[in-house]
Amino acid sequence: MTAPKLALATTPVSEAGVDAVVVGTVQHGSGLALAPGAEAVDAAFDGALAEVLGALGATGKVDEIVKVPTLGKLKARVVVAAGLGKAGADGAVTAEQVRRASGAAARALGPSKHVASTLSTVDLQAAVEGTVLGAYTFAGYKSEPATRELAKVDFAAPADGATKEHRATLKAATAIAEAVTAARDLINTPPNDLYPASFADRAVELAKSVGLEVEVLDEKALKKQGFGGILGVGVGSTRQPRLVRLTYKGPKARKKVALIGKGITFDTGGISIKPAANMDHMTSDMSGAAAVIASVVLAAKLKYPLQVTATVPMAENMPSGAAYRPGDVLTMYGGKTVEVLNTDAEGRLILSDAIVRACEDNPDYLIETSTLTGAQMVALGTRTMGVMGSDEFRDRVAGIAQATGEGGWAMPLPEELRGDLDSRLADLANVTGHRWGGMLAAGLFLREFVADGVPWAHLDIAGPSFNSGGPWGYTGKGGTGVPVRTIAAVLADIAENG
Ligand code: BES
Ligand code: MN
Ligand code: ZN
Repeated sequence: MTAPKLALATTPVSEAGVDAVVVGTVQHGSGLALAPGAEAVDAAFDGALAEVLGALGATGKVDEIVKVPTLGKLKARVVVAAGLGKAGADGAVTAEQVRRASGAAARALGPSKHVASTLSTVDLQAAVEGTVLGAYTFAGYKSEPATRELAKVDFAAPADGATKEHRATLKAATAIAEAVTAARDLINTPPNDLYPASFADRAVELAKSVGLEVEVLDEKALKKQGFGGILGVGVGSTRQPRLVRLTYKGPKARKKVALIGKGITFDTGGISIKPAANMDHMTSDMSGAAAVIASVVLAAKLKYPLQVTATVPMAENMPSGAAYRPGDVLTMYGGKTVEVLNTDAEGRLILSDAIVRACEDNPDYLIETSTLTGAQMVALGTRTMGVMGSDEFRDRVAGIAQATGEGGWAMPLPEELRGDLDSRLADLANVTGHRWGGMLAAGLFLREFVADGVPWAHLDIAGPSFNSGGPWGYTGKGGTGVPVRTIAAVLADIAENG
């Protein structure tokens, strides 16, 4: 998709030569109220816009879109009223409410090419992010090009006008939203076209566009350096694994952050093969990798005063005569041995290699994200990532995930489960012998590879990374780009507070 052109507008929306104007509505008692920013549009309707909307059945609830023709009252032909849901006790709505309403509006704009949004007067950053993400489509493989293409959006400037600060907010929000769509593009690319080597190429291309340092290890280099986890998982495929490292060295870097993302370009389960139903969803098993690649590129675009390195293991988990077996023992990068009891618990094997490699750089913080366990969805559903790791940093990241609207919840790493990963013959087994606390056991496995004293967070995004249901808010079907916004916000927080 080509991103729409975005601008801050100071002309009153009533005079804007656009196709449609977006206004917000709020649930209010049994009726509906207009959100701030709708005043000029309401005036063009002689102050009766809320009444008109009410007569059309609008209630202001979340994800509600009601369109009203303007019949010449405004230059725009249609008013698109987007429900924000209920306001808080103080009458205010949250950034995430604005983001979702903006996204729902963008999805509903139909043939409108040029749109004005008034939701930006409530929260500019959220309106921009929601609009760009809601407008996102992945049409790469359709023989007919998409007809719904939003060309230009004018965001009504907040009350104090198009200040320098608001222009900076627009720029940053655009960069953040584009990082999310870059991740979505990678996730939505089918696995016959996105495999380790081609994925590495695309990562390098994105990295070079912002001047990052790049290192790619192919299968020979991986073998030479002893990346037994990545190789073990990847050898069953004709398309051999890679390890990609992208480094951004910011001006006056105050802290060093290691990002790691699971890059399984397709997960069949290997010899411990998955059932056929929904196996196609495993095209998204590289969502963590996509997110950290997009995030390090974003860090460079936003010039964070940090050093950020993304370490991204990429492999395809296939069953074949060359594939690794249940019962194999792998020697991981750094020397620990792992008995493979289930080849479908492959993510933790490639990630452990990457974690050990990343820790060699002595990072101040380590953030790893992966579509690691189906158990994440059993525990938290499809929209809330599980956040594990060292206590303090885990809680900080979980709090930030909630604040960004991506949703995250701190989860424990119960000590008593650790013993269940003991192996009969190796240092560690890759699964426990039972199905309890599967997300937590995977987190405990990863913990074994994090260097002592490094504050770390593990984000299990099995559910939130891929939307296999209907669209909602700013989230369409397919790759969501979660947790790019959380990582971006954590990086910003570290840049500011250390
Ligand atoms: N990629 C899957 C996890 C997954 C499942 C992500 C569904 C998204 C949707 C992962 O590699 C996997 O297969 N995990 C196993 C672990 C088990 C063998 C301990 C799982 O969750 O079943
Ligand atoms: Mn698997
Ligand atoms: Zn997997």
